[in-house]
Amino acid sequence: MCGIVGAVARHDVLDNLIDGLNRLEYRGYDSAGVALVCDDKRVQRLRAVGKVAVLEEEISVKRPVGHIGVAHTRWATHGQPSVRNCHPHMSGTDLALVHNGIIENHTELRTELEADGYEFTSDTDTEVIVHLIHRVLPDSNTLRDAVASAVERLEGAYAIGVIHASSPDTIVAARHGSPLIIGLGDDGNYLASDQMALSSITDRFIYLEEGDLAEIQVDRILIHSRQGEVANRQVHRFSPGALSIDKGHYNHFMHKEIHEQARVMTDVLEGRLAEAHVPDAVFGVDAAALFDRAQHIQIIACGTSYHAGMVARYWLEEHAGIPCQVEIASEYRYRTPAVLPHTLIVTVSQSGETADTLAALRNLKDHPNCCGSLSICNVAGSSLIRESDLCLLTHAGPEIGVASTKAFTSQLVAFQLLTAVVGRRHAMTPQAERGLVLQLRELPALVQHVLLLDERIRNHAGTFADKNHTLFLGRGVHYPIAMEGALKLKEISYIHAEAYAAGELKHGPLALVDEEMPVVALVPVDGLFDKMKSNLQEVQARKGSMLLIASENACLEDLKPKSVIRLPDVPEFLAPVIYTIPLQLLSYHVALIKGTNVDQPRNLAKAVTVE
Ligand code: G6P
Repeated sequence: MCGIVGAVARHDVLDNLIDGLNRLEYRGYDSAGVALVCDDKRVQRLRAVGKVAVLEEEISVKRPVGHIGVAHTRWATHGQPSVRNCHPHMSGTDLALVHNGIIENHTELRTELEADGYEFTSDTDTEVIVHLIHRVLPDSNTLRDAVASAVERLEGAYAIGVIHASSPDTIVAARHGSPLIIGLGDDGNYLASDQMALSSITDRFIYLEEGDLAEIQVDRILIHSRQGEVANRQVHRFSPGALSIDKGHYNHFMHKEIHEQARVMTDVLEGRLAEAHVPDAVFGVDAAALFDRAQHIQIIACGTSYHAGMVARYWLEEHAGIPCQVEIASEYRYRTPAVLPHTLIVTVSQSGETADTLAALRNLKDHPNCCGSLSICNVAGSSLIRESDLCLLTHAGPEIGVASTKAFTSQLVAFQLLTAVVGRRHAMTPQAERGLVLQLRELPALVQHVLLLDERIRNHAGTFADKNHTLFLGRGVHYPIAMEGALKLKEISYIHAEAYAAGELKHGPLALVDEEMPVVALVPVDGLFDKMKSNLQEVQARKGSMLLIASENACLEDLKPKSVIRLPDVPEFLAPVIYTIPLQLLSYHVALIKGTNVDQPRNLAKAVTVE
């Protein structure tokens, strides 16, 4: 997704801007650009299609020097990836702007601006913003006033950074619906889409809130709220470790992040398990009262986070005894749901900035039947956390690979904690809660154990690399795990992969099964083991080639499987976390064989901050 960087400092800021763009690469993008007010008071802009490295090559030929600038990585929404569509966009020769978001009324604004004589040089929705600002500049006292008046005309979502040759000491930034942060440095101040972009410069950040307009100068930051009042926003500090983004000895972030999961299990549980229960306060000071009121849970999320929510529904209904519904945010936000009384909204998100999830929360939280909101999220200070009553941070650390791995398993653990605190108020006995706590303590070691299978799983990857399709099968709580496995494979290896609840096989997908259709099946020994085996007999009878991911004590002789990955026999409550890991490793190794871009798969973005 688009990334923004801005800098105003006592030194030449070009290197800061490029470093920031490199650090935003993980979000996904197709082109990049930079503009500076140079020391001769002229705006210089350079743009390139492809990686930031291509832009750097251009810079090496013609290096602009300046103390103030904005830069951008673009993920195409309106208009092809091309130089003309790259940001920064300019109006005239003095005004440059970078934008993240989507302007929904851009067609109407474009017609109006063209009638006023503005010539458009791109196919983007963004370009209307820079011309709108340009049009009101002559009648405005300051660049800030011009931006304030221009954004009033915008419908949709935006985070913008603006520079002007006549205001060579100020970046003006505004946010509505897309994230934006300010980084406070010793020698200047900075602007970015997220704190990762500025992690080499500072550990002090201000999160702009919805409707904020900021003037950023070397030694002064002035923020006005949507109401036009001066706003004092809190400064947040992060330890440098919390923002560290190197690959260590791994070749890919995804591989490193898969292998971090034992540590992540420890971190997400740290301080959250008492002797025999999960304290309410883990979810915040007001958690107890809110959980007391909740009679129904509505989980809302996108992508991998949605799969975590689907797993949670099995746990919340079976172990906690509370009714639970799960829905994809992009659907929920446009439905008119019949909300049950005393509904607790639970949003799940790695980034905390996913546009659809945020919109669904905003639509629902003022509903009279909602008793409160909880976000399960990996990014402290994100919009989702700030707009929810309660939050549980998943402490997975920065996740750079676009395909989510450690964030997912940490979300599962967060839901296990939620199952305990909600369950205590409904169907879970103190003994059951104690048992659950004891099991959770074993989780980091079990995850570590399963990670040792990496090499063995690599040996199975070759079966998939030349295939065009794969089926993933699971039952019960392992059905959403199969969905997550299929999503991982398609995201990074571009192999079409579909997941089915194994009981559905005979209602359609069985027609696809032959020697050319690999079938990956999750076969823990649980209450559905025999049912699963019957489904696999159906596959075997059609000569389907199966890879079984099975418990070490699963008796599978009658299936005569050629390929089995055996996992330790673990408690049913922990199994979804454990069975996820081989699926992550499998997709990683298939992608390696296929030679795809593992960390930044084509067309995908890490944080989807637009609809
Ligand atoms: C994108 C990412 C996925 C992620 C989804 C939801 O599609 O590529 O990995 O699961 O967004 O993101 P969130 O940050 O809300 O979990």
